[in-house]
Amino acid sequence: MRRVYFDHSGTTPVHPAVAEEMYRYLTGENFGNPSSVHYYGLQIKKKIAEARDKLAQALGAGSGEIVFTSGGTESDNMAIHGAAYTNRNKGNHIITSAVEHHAVLNTVKALGKQGFDITILPVDRYGMVSVADVAAAITDKTIVISIMHANNEVGTIMPVAEIGKLARERKIIFHVDAVQSFGKIPVLVDEIGCDLLSISGHKIYGPKGVGALYIRKGTRWKQSLFHGGAQERLRRAGTENIPGIMGLAKAVELVTANLVQESARLKSLRDKLIKGLTSRIEHVSLTGHPTMRLPNHASFLFKYIEGESMLLSLDLKGIAASTGSACTSGSLEPSHVLLAMGVPPEDAHGSLRLTLGKDNTEEDVDYFLDVMGPIVEKLRDMSPLKD
Ligand SMILES: Cc1ncc(COP(=O)(O)O)c(C=O)c1O
Repeated sequence: MRRVYFDHSGTTPVHPAVAEEMYRYLTGENFGNPSSVHYYGLQIKKKIAEARDKLAQALGAGSGEIVFTSGGTESDNMAIHGAAYTNRNKGNHIITSAVEHHAVLNTVKALGKQGFDITILPVDRYGMVSVADVAAAITDKTIVISIMHANNEVGTIMPVAEIGKLARERKIIFHVDAVQSFGKIPVLVDEIGCDLLSISGHKIYGPKGVGALYIRKGTRWKQSLFHGGAQERLRRAGTENIPGIMGLAKAVELVTANLVQESARLKSLRDKLIKGLTSRIEHVSLTGHPTMRLPNHASFLFKYIEGESMLLSLDLKGIAASTGSACTSGSLEPSHVLLAMGVPPEDAHGSLRLTLGKDNTEEDVDYFLDVMGPIVEKLRDMSPLKD
């Protein structure tokens, strides 16, 4: 059967060159613990330093500003938790948005239960946070603002540089979840003006279970998530995941070298998909911002159909897609992102997300458009949602 993978925001296949690089650090003499002072440890220590340099270069950061983590979720938790507790003597107010990934949203809510004062900002119908709303929410007690660069469910790109400017003027720590944007659009920490920024390996053809947190030089850091050894300059205890870190660095190198050409290619496929779908099928609308969106991201609402039934029908045709975020599909709760955008709960169930990647072609888009028409027709015919 023809197989088409349209779920790159969920995860990506590991690039063969990344797998090769990782294999190198699972075999032979490359097993050392970088904290050891003998040959085995020292050579690995050097390799981690090179990997750190690669990440730093890609983000326009200094090497000392990169901390390796176990992925996007840990980076988000570490950033918000660390910044909030380190600055608790200055204030207790945290600002975030209603459309953040749960790794941010639930961390902020957990801090709310621990006595922090939290503001969860609304978004407009495109899923965009307003800079004016951020400005209005800031108080003398605000210590952290966490706003994502691009939304995983609807692809909308947030005005992070303007928020960064505000945060800097008010000397508030600004964290940006760049898990979805990194590798698809430029992510440079000085252009964004953030103090903390999260990335994840498995969204960029790297391995799962590894990521990084950028911590701007000079950012006070007194609170670690983990208690343990002095790794990562006392900011993240635990023996380093060497194959993961080396794989992440390789993935970063590959994805940044090809970013401009690949983004343009994906954007043209994405636009063909959006145009094809909305012109061929009735009662379908694009979700997220029409132009300020990730180049590989197309997301829709279909009236009178359940997202889950579309996924199953597409899967039978060999097409992998998602409804809402991968983490929320499987639950019957409508997506918190779509609800925050003002989509009625009964409509939010009809969401479909198609996220493109490096192996997708025009033929994949054509195949999808050909099979989608009959699927929608059949599901709507059977649907109790239609009168
Ligand atoms: C915006 C965003 N933040 C954080 C995460 C979590 O990253 P990880 O899967 O590496 O823990 C995801 C994963 O889907 C995401 O899309």
